[in-house]
Amino acid sequence: MIKDIEKVEEIIEYYAGERNPKEQENLVAMLREIQEVEGYIPREVQEMAAEKIGIKTTVLSCIIQRYPSLKGADYAHEMVLCSGARCGCKGGPEIIEAVKRELKIGKDGMSANKKVHVVTRNCLKQCKTSPNMLVDGKLYSGLTVEKALEIVRKL
Ligand code: FES
Repeated sequence: MIKDIEKVEEIIEYYAGERNPKEQENLVAMLREIQEVEGYIPREVQEMAAEKIGIKTTVLSCIIQRYPSLKGADYAHEMVLCSGARCGCKGGPEIIEAVKRELKIGKDGMSANKKVHVVTRNCLKQCKTSPNMLVDGKLYSGLTVEKALEIVRKL
């Protein structure tokens, strides 16, 4: 649901009227402002903005995925699970599987209770302490399936 449609339309209108509305810099700035108003960037708003600017909605959803500070859904916690090779040989895939099963993660990366968004990333650049994951930006290292599930259950 959109909280303040007028404000959101005003933001989209402003950025659509910029000299280069399709430039990534503009798109990111627009998405940031929308998020300030809505708390996240609802799918309907992504569609509205894409149509107005003349780009595909997937362009905006890709930007949202690429920028950890942008949220495409209204969730309370974000988990980034490492799917890199170094974590992989120390049980990473089992941890990913167990976390996804515990939270009943859907195709969109959302938990069944819509509180947690889970993504995987190929290497968190902390290989020495693998397996790793991030929860709301905080690094958890040297994980086991049990440790990871303990963290998940506290969310
Ligand atoms: S492979 Fe997991 S942190 Fe590098």
